[in-house]
Amino acid sequence: LSSIRVDVNDVEVGTQITVKWLGKPVFIRRRTAEEIEEARSVDLSELPDQSDRNANKPGLDAADENRTLDEAGEWLVMMGVCTHLGCVPLGDGAGDYHGWFCPCHGSHYDTSGRIRKGPAPENLHVPVAEFVEPTVIKLG
Ligand code: FES
Repeated sequence: LSSIRVDVNDVEVGTQITVKWLGKPVFIRRRTAEEIEEARSVDLSELPDQSDRNANKPGLDAADENRTLDEAGEWLVMMGVCTHLGCVPLGDGAGDYHGWFCPCHGSHYDTSGRIRKGPAPENLHVPVAEFVEPTVIKLG
């Protein structure tokens, strides 16, 4: 199994980095308090995809708490691959739900990376990931 370590020490609140892993982009976002609040106040019944899509916590519902890497919800790690046909969504608050927007066919993802509007069927997938040091995330 191929894994990589990513030092996130320089990632400021309200920004994200994209790293390549297994040939695919992975988004690592350090969310603001507002983004966390927005993600956690959503009524889950409004979500088109009810699954957390989190390889670290398979089979849970799509609550934001089930998708973030840390309990406080500051860190969100996701495959940067639209679940429609695989384009790379734009981030940094893009789209109607202030998360990510896929320009290929217009899929809007919220601040938790959950699909809210458009043709994508699933939430952005959360890969196997964990903090192995206070500022180092291991993917895979
Ligand atoms: Fe993203 Fe079609 S590939 S909306």
